[in-house]
Amino acid sequence: MKLLDALHCRNQGPPPVWIMRQAGRYLPEYRQIRKRHSFIEMTHQPELAAEVTLLPIHRYDLDAAIIFSDILFISEALGYPFDFVEGVGPVLSTPLLPKDIPHLEKQAPLDFIEEAIRIAKSNLSIPLLGFSGAPFTIASYMIEGGSSRDLKKTKQWLFHDPVSFHHLLEILTETIIQNLRRQIDAGIDAVQIFESWASHLALPQLREFSFPYLKRIMDAVCKPVILFGRATAGYVSELAKLNPSGLGLDWSCDLSHMRNSVPKTIALQGNLDPLVLFAPPKTIEDETNKILKSIEGDPGFIFNLGHGILPETPPENVHILIDTIRSFSCATSSSPISNS
Ligand code: CP3
Repeated sequence: MKLLDALHCRNQGPPPVWIMRQAGRYLPEYRQIRKRHSFIEMTHQPELAAEVTLLPIHRYDLDAAIIFSDILFISEALGYPFDFVEGVGPVLSTPLLPKDIPHLEKQAPLDFIEEAIRIAKSNLSIPLLGFSGAPFTIASYMIEGGSSRDLKKTKQWLFHDPVSFHHLLEILTETIIQNLRRQIDAGIDAVQIFESWASHLALPQLREFSFPYLKRIMDAVCKPVILFGRATAGYVSELAKLNPSGLGLDWSCDLSHMRNSVPKTIALQGNLDPLVLFAPPKTIEDETNKILKSIEGDPGFIFNLGHGILPETPPENVHILIDTIRSFSCATSSSPISNS
């Protein structure tokens, strides 16, 4: 299993590859299913979620599947379900306020995710990734009531009333840990944690409102954890101290520099700009090769994009990406290649 070997920093030969949001809207077969079902239906019906999980695996030579779900179902588990509105994104009808915290305590299990994992896993011969949002990122969606450009309400709450903000993060952390343990019991092989909105916080706030909670999650999870964040280049060595199995990096990072700041016992994952997949084939090959070259031979490298694949991406360009990764590996492999 190349992905798990890379997460243990002992992969020999070609790096494994998977793609964030690999089962998303850029696939025509996803859009076909999506015509008949809402995103909520697709994720809440386990057979359907498992089927969608497998779509990119049928089409591409990938080294991992990721369960089709969303980070915002943790909010649903706490009694605050999101709606996903076409052209708008996730919407919470009443954004969370400090006075609502006592009502968050009831925790409904997300059985549909576990069932989807069981079905997908029984149809896979490659590792299946589970995932979760990180407490700060999920808190910000609940407080803003959806996507936000500047996290104004979240940061106002955080600076105004840090005690209740910590209380919210505590509740989220516990819910996330329970949910991840159930994903593991259902059969996932590794986990990715998305701290997507940490890029909005300055380092002192990250140290107070993000890192300690990430550490608790990492310590509570008994499978390899990849920690993904955006614009993390400035503090990657602090993230390494949280001791994840792997760090997912966005495209603003230089992988060879990052490797110098992160111990060789921690895998690195990334980090092609998703917009490169809109470029001509030669540019896709060149940019992919630049990344491969910059971290060539590293036993702890996992190829991925620097963020989720975009809905408008031409699906055939993903073939070019994967072929480039496979042929680079062949060209540099130490063992002779046989044509037989
Ligand atoms: O990677 C995968 O293929 C697994 C599935 C997955 C989805 N969302 C499916 C999805 C994963 C891992 C996520 C993570 C997620 N969801 C994050 C963290 C990653 C990141 O982007 O930084 C965040 C912030 C969310 C919240 C979320 N869910 C948003 C902002 C949106 C709207 C996006 C948009 O472009 O409309 C969603 C909906 C969503 N989650 C879709 C998919 C495939 C689109 C659903 C559709 O309309 O068909």
